[in-house]
Amino acid sequence: RFNLCRYANEAMSLSRLTVKNLRNIEHLELSLGSGVNLICGVNGSGKTSLLEAIYFLGSGRTFRGQRIEPLISRNASGCTVFGVVDADRRCRIGVQRGRDGGRDIKINGEVVRRASELALALPVLVLGPDTVDLLLGAPGPRRRFLNWGLFHVEHGFLPEWENATRGLKQRNSLLRGGSASSRELAVWTDKLEVLAETIDAYRRRYFEKLQTVFKVMCADLTGLQGVECVYSRGWDSTRSLKEVMASQLDGDIKRGFTLSGFQKADIELRVAGQSATSVCSRGELKILAWALVLSQGKLSMAQQHQAPVYLVDDLCAELDEDHRQSVCRELVNSGGQIVATGIDLEQLQGSWSGITTKMFHVKRGVFSEMESSNE
Ligand SMILES: Nc1ncnc2c1ncn2[C@@H]1O[C@H](COP(=O)(O)OP(=O)(O)OP(=O)(O)O)[C@@H](O)[C@H]1O
Ligand SMILES: [Mg+2]
Repeated sequence: RFNLCRYANEAMSLSRLTVKNLRNIEHLELSLGSGVNLICGVNGSGKTSLLEAIYFLGSGRTFRGQRIEPLISRNASGCTVFGVVDADRRCRIGVQRGRDGGRDIKINGEVVRRASELALALPVLVLGPDTVDLLLGAPGPRRRFLNWGLFHVEHGFLPEWENATRGLKQRNSLLRGGSASSRELAVWTDKLEVLAETIDAYRRRYFEKLQTVFKVMCADLTGLQGVECVYSRGWDSTRSLKEVMASQLDGDIKRGFTLSGFQKADIELRVAGQSATSVCSRGELKILAWALVLSQGKLSMAQQHQAPVYLVDDLCAELDEDHRQSVCRELVNSGGQIVATGIDLEQLQGSWSGITTKMFHVKRGVFSEMESSNE
């Protein structure tokens, strides 16, 4: 059994942030509080852009689409974000991306090749209007969701997953080429079978723990009865991948890619036995998706004693007062640093009863700190 230690002391927070040429933020220097930070401003002022800047620092990527180019300010050749992370030790991180595709990551002054190092230095989770796509959209983001969790709690997972992904690429390129000998194919098939079983074992173990946290989270947040999350591994649950791949070999050769395997894993939310997406209201789906992400953060805190930074975009949208308050309570209990945005200051402030918040106002990409409140 694992321990849920909500109030561990190993709080990590992004204390300083410098942003250059990211969307409508030309130049920004910000001191963030280690607790709750609220950002308000009208539509198009730069609230989501600030969250994107922090996400970029923790991943080298954007959460709006796959391409990095739209992130770079229109007239600039590249964007840069620096940050100081206060944890057990202080850590300085910098990420730079150029329009020409160049990428530069530095941690404590040293050049780093892998973006995964950023995620270790500054784990971030996003709760926003699009988080519901985790339930409504294609399975890719759900697999990335599982991977995020595993990456942060099981350090052996990433190399296995990278190996398997490389193996899958090799097998698919052989299948596409059309001239692969059956012996050549068999080598990659055998490797993939072993790797896929390992990844499935990691995922199942992680999923079980996530499920336990998620159930409690759902009861606290949603009021829905009979919510369950179901994991499917990506191939027939009654047969080994070896059998499945053998039976699909001819089809794989015709298709030019591998039909079944770890790359097809998925999770599904059910409410009283039915798919959540077919029975839940829009607001319920949003809360369920947020509950999944919050559970992931909580599990990472429980296992690694490190709470992520929560980037909460448009906190008040689609949520009624009660749900807003429950979400804020969970966020505060998570022990992580929070940066939350909203259009209406009063509404944004209203749900953090008794918690001191640091507040900023943003207008056309320029941020100014407002007087702090302690409601
Ligand atoms: N590459 C870019 N260069 C310059 N400006 C950009 C770029 N990409 C987006 N913008 C602009 O940046 C502004 C800020 O966008 P952002 O999404 O941060 O606004 P927001 O405050 O979150 O608004 P909303 O309340 O509508 O969500 C918008 O006017 C947008 O059009
Ligand atoms: Mg926005």
